[in-house]
Amino acid sequence: MTFSSTIIVFSQSVSERSGDWSSHMCNIMGHLEELFTSTITRTFPEIDKPIVQIQVSKHADYQCNAAMTMAKTLKKNPREVGETVVKNFPEDPVISKLDLSGPGFINIYLDKEFLKQQVTNIVLQGVTPPPTKRRRVVVDFSSPNIAKEMHVGHLRSTIIGDSICHLLEFLGHDVLRLNHLGDWGTQFGMLIAHLKDEFPDFANNPPPISDLQAFYKASKKRFDEDEEFKKRAYEAVVKLQAHDPAHKKGWEEICEISKNEFQKVYDKLKIRITDRGESFYQSRMESLVKELTDAGLLQEDNGRMVMFGDGGEIPLTIVKSDGGFTYDTSDMACIKQRIEEEKGEWLIYVTDAGQSEHFKSFFACSKKAKIYDPAKVRVDHVQFGVVLGEDKKKFKTRSGDTVRLIDLLDEGCQRSEEKLKEKERDKVLSEEEFKKARDAVAYGCIKYADLCHDRTRDYIFSFDRMLDFRGNTAAYLLYALTRICSIARTAGVKKEDITEEAKKNPLVLEHEKEWKLARTLLKLPDVLVKLTEDLYMHPLCEFLYEVSSVFTEFYDNCYCVEKDQSGNIVKINYNRLILCEAVATVMEQCFAILGIETLEKM
Ligand code: ARG
Repeated sequence: MTFSSTIIVFSQSVSERSGDWSSHMCNIMGHLEELFTSTITRTFPEIDKPIVQIQVSKHADYQCNAAMTMAKTLKKNPREVGETVVKNFPEDPVISKLDLSGPGFINIYLDKEFLKQQVTNIVLQGVTPPPTKRRRVVVDFSSPNIAKEMHVGHLRSTIIGDSICHLLEFLGHDVLRLNHLGDWGTQFGMLIAHLKDEFPDFANNPPPISDLQAFYKASKKRFDEDEEFKKRAYEAVVKLQAHDPAHKKGWEEICEISKNEFQKVYDKLKIRITDRGESFYQSRMESLVKELTDAGLLQEDNGRMVMFGDGGEIPLTIVKSDGGFTYDTSDMACIKQRIEEEKGEWLIYVTDAGQSEHFKSFFACSKKAKIYDPAKVRVDHVQFGVVLGEDKKKFKTRSGDTVRLIDLLDEGCQRSEEKLKEKERDKVLSEEEFKKARDAVAYGCIKYADLCHDRTRDYIFSFDRMLDFRGNTAAYLLYALTRICSIARTAGVKKEDITEEAKKNPLVLEHEKEWKLARTLLKLPDVLVKLTEDLYMHPLCEFLYEVSSVFTEFYDNCYCVEKDQSGNIVKINYNRLILCEAVATVMEQCFAILGIETLEKM
């Protein structure tokens, strides 16, 4: 369950659409749903909100079963109800005909010219998103903590968050990608105190700390064991919060070292993100506390100031007994900033499921404080399960340490290199091509393995599985794509020739497998719209896999290029090359949304 389902979900309203499908792809199921809804409300005004579900049909292209449920309310025969709906149905370029079967199922047949036009457009215009109302979206993802290791949980957040951003950007939204770094808190006291002891000249010479983890551990050890040090650590926090320049400098340097480490991961995975850590909200937290106090929303609890939401959630700790602020305080100030200053209309937070209570609480409290109005702003906590090792235990190195992300990514590259060599790809690719393939396969597989299943489940990290060239893996799909792209290339047909052909002559689709492939491709817009409803990305991976499977069926049955016995080309079927080009375009777009780089050769 995502929290979003209890709040609003934007769906597209009729006014956001246009019936002109020549300039963008049609989300066919959504369009049919709308047509049925409006026809039913027009025909039977007594039905308040008809429940219309469009399903793929065995007999026709799609079917609508609304007549059955309506018949109960109307106390009429379902077949009669279905007939009346069909009779009142408007002309529409997407539909060629409607008929009834069984007790009242309405069968929907799509217009074949429309389908061909849509496929041709993919080749001529690329995948064009279904019309969407542009919204300001703030996506909070990755968000590791300074001086601590960026771990596999943050890797999941990075991969899922980046993909959600790609999706929303593709649909035309105005997306702000934010890295909510944990860069504030009492731990900085001990870090700065330790820094002062180890590198007294840190203000002039940047401290050569190569292992910030070890530095953190060492300072923590002193903090726990040495009373005098502990005292100095507390003093350092007070000075830092009072903006003392030397302490601020120390804090900046520690943040810098951490951020440089994080950046290495982002560079490898090609992640775009803007840093905006918790420290950004310092002054905003102060005014927030005042506001909440004035509004009488805080109450005392053992020296702390806490706030309750209206739904019986765990209270937030807004001010600690020592006067300090918490993670709760910063998220309250942060949601206010994102709504009021960033004008966010949709806020997305990508973190592990372990934090779901925190999110429920601060969403409820911000609603109570009238910071967030669910009728105007959509908020989603996009949560995910934990990463497990192949032994189904918490993901750790053999020696039991936390796995460093950089090491994990490097291991991925090494494994992918071995795999590609096993397949003798090093013999056909140039050195540069091979390196490109190695990295794209490694990072593509890591991302895909994360995105291809229900994110709320725990997930077993296995290089062997993700790098398998069979089945639903990025390795298989990337390879399938390069093969599709090479069909025209090996026949000596250039991309321009295919687009010229698509422009000049109307597409001809005859074979059953050609139609099946075309219909499959045209499901993409509906898949994309569905993704925005619940922000689960795995249906896109399922779609990608389906496209490649249906393509194989088509390719096994339909010659694209015919050769004689000695291998000379005797016939090139341009229509089918157009279809291949459309498949490649659709697959590339899916990979782009998943944040996965594609290859020409592999
Ligand atoms: N730094 C947190 C962590 O490592 C994640 C922050 C998520 N964003 C937020 N606004 N609370 O778990």
